[in-house]
Amino acid sequence: MKVLFIGDIVGGSGRNAVAAILPELAREQSWDLCIANAENSAGGKGITAAIAEELLATGIDVMTMGNHTWDNKEIFKFIDDAHYLVRPANYPINVPGQGYTVVEIKGKRVAVINLSGQVFMGSMDCPFAKADELLLSLSDCDYIIIDFHGEATAEKVGFARYVDGRAAAVIGTHTHIQTADEGLLPQGTLYITDVGATGAINSVLGMEVGPVIKRLTTKLPQRFVAAKGPAMMCAVLMDLSAKKILRIALTAE
Ligand SMILES: [Fe+2]
Ligand SMILES: [Fe+2]
Repeated sequence: MKVLFIGDIVGGSGRNAVAAILPELAREQSWDLCIANAENSAGGKGITAAIAEELLATGIDVMTMGNHTWDNKEIFKFIDDAHYLVRPANYPINVPGQGYTVVEIKGKRVAVINLSGQVFMGSMDCPFAKADELLLSLSDCDYIIIDFHGEATAEKVGFARYVDGRAAAVIGTHTHIQTADEGLLPQGTLYITDVGATGAINSVLGMEVGPVIKRLTTKLPQRFVAAKGPAMMCAVLMDLSAKKILRIALTAE
């Protein structure tokens, strides 16, 4: 079971990078399921129905979200019908959407769970307790993949160790900077602290540089805009059966 997981797609540059790079990558590699974090796909903030359709058309099967889930209000119109779209499972109960989805591929059931960290992430329900609950209720699945959307590396590594052996893979998202620690944990879970982002290279985490520096230096509110120009796609390609993980960072031509 091969799974490609693409890191936070930021704005049009990120979406174009996916559309340009996926066909190239497919010439050398193959996968059965493509997951992407899409919390920044609409101009850096949230997602729209049209953008979700655009991403599905590039070959992405499942989209995960994060702290930017609700930034574009259009999501409330379609999230409850979007079986492919997963927002953090540890929001309070009765929030729209779903915290996981199960897809059937080659006769196997693959669950994709989205969880948010708590450290520097605002107040969320405990991701450890929520993971215990979901891993139990999804124990009939052949593979469980968790997108752990978090800021603090210690929390991400600690979470991965907590579910080691119970999930097929824990893929970190949110920091937009790819870490070089991909590997197999002792009990058999594939892991990377952060898969990285997919967006403009000349940017701060995919956003235009100027307003970010202005906010950092003046502390005044600024309007952040997704940066344009040459982009890169950060991802990992996993073989869940062989327990292998390959880190990918490709630049669009
Ligand atoms: Fe993000
Ligand atoms: Fe995020």
